Amino acid sequence: MGWNPDQYELFRAARERPGQDLIRALPPLAPERIVDLGCGTGYLTRQLADNYPHARVIGVDNDRAMLAKAAHEPSGVVWELGDAAQWRPERPMDLIFSNAALHWLPRHGALFGHLAGALAADGVLAIQMPRNFDAPSHRLLRDLAGEPEWEEALHGALDHENVLTPDAYWRVLRPYCRTVEIWETEYLHALPGPDPVLEWVKGTTLLPVMLRLDEDAAARFRDAYAQSLRHAYPAETDGTTLFPFRRLFIIAQK
Ligand SMILES: C[S@@+](CC[C@H](N)C(=O)[O-])C[C@H]1O[C@@H](n2cnc3c(N)ncnc32)[C@H](O)[C@@H]1O
Repeated sequence: MGWNPDQYELFRAARERPGQDLIRALPPLAPERIVDLGCGTGYLTRQLADNYPHARVIGVDNDRAMLAKAAHEPSGVVWELGDAAQWRPERPMDLIFSNAALHWLPRHGALFGHLAGALAADGVLAIQMPRNFDAPSHRLLRDLAGEPEWEEALHGALDHENVLTPDAYWRVLRPYCRTVEIWETEYLHALPGPDPVLEWVKGTTLLPVMLRLDEDAAARFRDAYAQSLRHAYPAETDGTTLFPFRRLFIIAQK
């Protein structure tokens, strides 16, 4: 989809925190086979490899630029270019991990059933996804994309609201797993600099919109969106912008 690893990593500390929280919540494990689906620039994948030095760790991503940045740093991780939706392990996995990636994939009922089915005995599925699709950042984006000026060019560009409710994941995973823990955390990101919410979404949510527009149109769209974001997320007196962000966590063990 044309990810830009540098733009994505602008807010690396804030983006990394939920991934670290997911890693910290893992039960005691001695995994031999680990996969990180939608591994991006790979900082969490490398951490998994460090935490479990005896495991074979695979990072899967379908974006060449993200994977190239991941592979740039030395590690024992095997990086694979591929679609996480099509990923099929040769042998059952001890840890299937994914941070901030599976919300881009459709049909979660089937996807999560398939992932849980790919776990070895005692294997763990550990997933974190944003569940903030009704936040002003997303609502304003949908509203703008639906305006007459943009409607035709952007029709369907934002149709990736794939994340289900927490109880729906519990029902999908329970038949495969002896424990299913699901919770949500709302982070209050305190972002520095001008238009930081726009800068944040430029690295992720805005990508499918930018893909559809030529340079001039993209600049006009960004300006209009930035203006509405400034009203929704006004800067504090010290210049910080507060950006609440709700995320869903799942840890299920077979
Ligand atoms: C928001 S980034 C998260 C990256 C990393 N997991 C992290 O926590 O920093 C989402 C990643 O998912 C990848 N992605 C999206 N759809 C994918 C798919 N169908 N198959 C594989 N990777 C995908 C993107 O290329 C991107 O690198």
